[in-house]
Formats: sequence, C-alpha cells, structure tokens
Amino acid sequence: MPGVAVVGTQWGDEGKGKVVDLLAPGFHTVVRFGGGHNAGHTVVADGRKLVLHLLPSAVLHPGVRSVIGNGCVVDPEACLAELDEVEAAGLDPGARLLFSERAHCILDVHREVEALEESLRGKGEIGTTRRGIGPAYEDKAGRRGVRLADLRDRDQRDGRLAHLMAVRGRLLGWSRERQCEEARAAGALLDRFAERVLPLIGDASLAITGALAAGHAVLFEGAQAALLDIDHGSYPFVTSSSAVAAGAAVGSGVGPAAVGRVLGVAKAYQTRVGGGPMPTEMTEADNARVVRRGNEYGASTGRPRRCGWFDAVVLRYSRRVHGLDELAITKLDVLDGFSRIRVAVRYRLDGESVSEFPADPEAIGRCRPEYRTFSGWRRPTGGVTRMEDLPREARVYLDALEELTGVPITLASTGPDRLASIRRGPSRIFP
Ligand code: IMP
Repeated sequence: MPGVAVVGTQWGDEGKGKVVDLLAPGFHTVVRFGGGHNAGHTVVADGRKLVLHLLPSAVLHPGVRSVIGNGCVVDPEACLAELDEVEAAGLDPGARLLFSERAHCILDVHREVEALEESLRGKGEIGTTRRGIGPAYEDKAGRRGVRLADLRDRDQRDGRLAHLMAVRGRLLGWSRERQCEEARAAGALLDRFAERVLPLIGDASLAITGALAAGHAVLFEGAQAALLDIDHGSYPFVTSSSAVAAGAAVGSGVGPAAVGRVLGVAKAYQTRVGGGPMPTEMTEADNARVVRRGNEYGASTGRPRRCGWFDAVVLRYSRRVHGLDELAITKLDVLDGFSRIRVAVRYRLDGESVSEFPADPEAIGRCRPEYRTFSGWRRPTGGVTRMEDLPREARVYLDALEELTGVPITLASTGPDRLASIRRGPSRIFP
C-alpha cells in the first residue's frame, strides 16, 4: 500500500481526523495537502480531547512524520499557538514535523480583504471562516504571495511584502504610510515565526517521494471536502483550495500514482457551515436534535452547523470527483432514537427527476430531494465495536448507503473515541 488519501465527501466535518488518527500508526508519513487553519479536527484519544486546525492529526502519534504540504496556507500566529497547545498536551511535534518551503503564508492583510469582500457580498456572503484563507490563495495565484521559503532571506521577504501591501493596500484604501506599517508588522511576525519554525521548513516533496521510494506508507490527509472544493464544489460557496483526492498529488509534490487508494469519509447524515444551498436540510426540530446529539458546532468557528439527511446524489458525485475506493461512515450513533431516517436518492428539479449534482447554485437551491425512508433503531449504538452488535435497522441502513453510493463501506464509527469503530467487510486500506 504506497499512498492513501483520506478525504471528505460532503461539506466538511465528516470526522476525517478520527479516521486519520485510527490509520496513522500504520503509516510512516502523514501529509496535509490543502487548506489552512479553517479546518478543525477534533481528536479524542485516551479521554483527552485536542482540536487541531492546521497540524495533521498524526502529530499525536510519536514515530509518525507529519508534513504540511505546499498546497497548504500557514497562518504564523495561529500555527505558533497550535504548536504551543500540542506541546502543552505533553507531545513534542517538533522533531517529526516538516513544513513545505513552497507553502504560502496567511497575513493580517488577508483577513482584512476577506472581511471587506464578505461585507460587499451582503446577503450572498459565503460565510467563510474569516481566517484569510481565500485571499491568501488569491495572492498565491496572483504570484505575489509570501512563501515559507522567503523566511530564509529577510530582504527578499521584505521586497515581497512591500509589493503585496501595495496591491492589497489599494483595494483596502490604505495610505502609503499604512502600507509600510503593515509590511513592517508582517515582517516582525514572520521573524518571530521563523525563529521557531525555520529549522522545520524544507523540501516536503523530496521527503515524501523519498519515503515512498523506501517502501514506506504515506497517508494524504484531506481538509474540507468535495462539495467545498474550489473546482468541483458548490461554487461559489466553497473554500479556495483543492479538497479532492487529486489535490493530494498537487498539494504534496508527488505524481498521481503515489496516491494509490482513496478513502472517503461521510457522516451518516450531513452538515454544512456557512452559506449556500443544501437540498436535504432538515426541519428545525430535527436539526436542533442532531446539533445537540452530534455536538455539531464548527470546531474552528463555534457556529452551529446546518444539518441534512444523507444525500446519495452528493455521495455519488463525490465518488466520481474523488475516485473513491472505500467509504467510512461516521457518527452513526447520532441517529439513535430517530423513528425514521431519510436518504435522498435523486432530486426533482423544475419538474424533472435528476440523479446528477448540478453545477449551478440556483439550480441546487431548487432541487427537492426524493427520499427513501428507513426505520430508525431503539437500542443505542454509541461505542459499539462489532457489526453483529448493531441493531438490525442500523445494519440495514449501512447496507442501503453502500448500495446507493456504490462504494464499499469498510468502517462505521459509533462515537468520538478511537475505540468506538466497527470494521466492516474486506478492505485494502484498514488493517
Ligand atoms: P473559507 O475556507 O474560510 O474560505 O470558507 C469557505 C467555506 O468553506 C465556508 O462555507 C466555510 O464554512 C467552509 N469551510 C472551510 N473549512 C471548513 C471545514 O473545515 N469544515 C467545514 N466547512 C469549512
């Protein structure tokens, strides 16, 4: 097994962190290949809860190397705070952590640009995490970003900062003095960041390909999800990076064949934070119940998540754009106690039955799901570890999800702890 990508199949927050955490001990290297601290992975191990935003979930595993790939954007302040938190938990990520020198920095100016743009959108706001992610990727594509490699040479870095502030300062209406002031402040922050992180910055692509060539297994940890992907997501209500499995190659500096197998992670229902349509959105009462039972609050922003029924149209789309080999279903236990559970199998759109996910957000907003309804289960499933111990209705539900998505379900998760997991059927990913 050379490489495995673990990716989100819905609108994020599927529980990828837990799945990566489960798999990590079998891997030599775990790579985050996109996004920044907009992600939030909550990992519970030995009763200890840690919320990670940028660092791969594997930092909890001594002996596993963690890499922040070139596809990521790094906020120096947030990154330092996260390193502190991990160290306070008694872990020393430093020795096993590598930052790609080609990753870009997020600066204060990016948050300012984002706040301006969101306010100009009015009702059509994206509902971003307001962490400057989008504008940092814009500056990367605009060829004026500051990369971690620039931290090695102060003059070069300051030159890039001056140009960046001149361009962005125009948009923000900054005076020449303000531009210089912002460039100086950013430089001081990057100095502080470099002091701690410079020794951890290097050629990540070289390290990852070296590990693969030596026969080591590499896990590519996705952030966000297919429906938030910049190309394939529900544009414009998306993040600004590649969240599909192919992004693992681009965002890590390896060839596509290195990403050998693709594991999708989906909740037994689905959630979304921020704006944009979600056809299977639940009624207020069902939504409130799932938020409460599933603790559905954004790990990065604390916002309550919008909840919807499992959408097989979305999952089949995800299967196509990710190239899924296997599926892990998480949070099955959150559905305990529902008398009936719904799954969208197709949509009705302008009087027609459609089975493919539309590109146009207005069309997605007009889609009405055609549901298949399943009986709920009475016995709690929290913490169950064997298929045969699940209520019959829960097994029927999993079988139906497998049939409707066309992807083998090889893991079901029944709680936040590592141990609350059920292996199901043959897998080429799970031991
Ligand atoms: P951004 O990534 O902050 O630009 O936000 C763009 C959209 O992606 C918003 O709807 C966010 O709520 C959503 N988003 C970004 N990261 C995550 C995540 O980790 N989980 C869920 N939604 C996310």
